[in-house]
Parts: sequence; C-alpha cells; structure tokens
Amino acid sequence: MSINIAIDGPAGAGKSTIAKMVAKQLGYIYVDTGAMYRAMALYIMRQGVDPKDSERISKECKNADISITYQDGAQVVLLNGENVNGLIRTEEVGNMASATSVNPDVREKLVDLQRILASKENVVMDGRDIGTVVLPNANVKIYLTASSKVRAQRRFLELEAKGEKADIDTIEKDIIERDHRDMTREISPLKQAEDATLIDSSDMSIEEVVAAMIALVK
Ligand code: DC
Repeated sequence: MSINIAIDGPAGAGKSTIAKMVAKQLGYIYVDTGAMYRAMALYIMRQGVDPKDSERISKECKNADISITYQDGAQVVLLNGENVNGLIRTEEVGNMASATSVNPDVREKLVDLQRILASKENVVMDGRDIGTVVLPNANVKIYLTASSKVRAQRRFLELEAKGEKADIDTIEKDIIERDHRDMTREISPLKQAEDATLIDSSDMSIEEVVAAMIALVK
C-alpha cells in the first residue's frame, strides 16, 4: 500500500513550496493538483470559452488530455502532450482555474487522475479537496493556512522578484475573492477535513512548517 499525505489550504498559504520540501525529505512524489486545474483552465481559455459557460466547459474538458511526468524530480504537466509548466503560473490562468474548477466534469476527470497517481506511489499531494474528497483515507492530513495579509505579502515579494509590478492591496483583494469562491462552491469546496491537523504559517518560517509536517508524518 502506498503512503499518502494530503495538504489542503487556500491560495498562497505556501502549500506547494512546503509540500515539495516534505516530499523530498521523505523520498515521496510531490503532486501539485492546482497545476492540473491550471492546465485545464489554459486549455479552456485557448478554446475561447467564457468561464461562465458551464455547458461548453463540460464539453471542451473532454478533449484535454492532462498528464503528469517528472523531470529531475520536478513535476511537469502535459496538456495534450505539450509541456505547459511555463504557461500556467499567471494570475489570468489562476483566476480562470478558480472559475473552471467548479465544473463537475472538470473535477471528475482530474480527481480520477489524482487517485490513480496516489494508489501507485507514495505521494505528498496538495490542493483544496485532497483530504476531504480525493484521498479521504490519506495517512496524514494537513490544513495549511495563513492570514490573507501575509499571503498577499508573500505573493507580492514573489512577483517583485520576477520583476513584475504589483499592488499589494489588489493582490489581497484577489486572494480574498478567490478564497470566497473556493470555499463556497457547491462541489468539493475548500474546507478543513475533520481529521486534518491545522497549521497556520502566518508567523512561521518555511523550515518551521516543514519540520512540523515531518514530525506529524513520523
Ligand atoms: O493551488 P493553485 O492556485 O495552483 O490552484 C488553482 C485553482 O485550482 C484554485 O483557485 C482552485 C483550483 N483547485 C481546486 O479546485 N482543487 C484542487 N485540488 C486544486 C486546485
């Protein structure tokens, strides 16, 4: 039986940074499910579909073949065979992903893929519904969060480092809006699983969060 670690939480809580480090220390595979929703959103965007047109999203998502491979230990997302890693990290794709991930057909398709991965390998998987829906029997479940202010600050520094101009208040407003959308959607909303451990990283360093998670796993 493979060992599964589920990490959920809102956008910008540091899930992917932390999950990657935890996976590396444990020698497990890191699965970034947000990247799968982003790749799907990119596909739907490219077809020129309105994010509110759920009927067309249901139809179009059937033509998007999303898969995951690993290069030098890093996850690579393939969209119909194309490596889209470099295209899915924009705010535009993130917002589209938040809108299109409410679609039940999109979710069903990606959840199936996530469960297959977790059944074959020891994984650290991060997302919004991993502990609640995708892997309800995960060995360890963590809900990682931080205040919207701290998350906006981190995102701001990230963008600044990439040389992109950004306004911190706009970022925080976006984060609050996305949280609301992710937490109130009908299917698989973001919420802490009953048996998940809460970690609030607002006043913790990356190393402290990683150490706390490794301790939980052990
Ligand atoms: O974690 P992220 O920002 O890359 O995720 C992008 C969007 O995908 C997010 O707004 C909600 C959605 N998502 C989801 O619905 N379920 C997941 N397991 C992961 C992401």
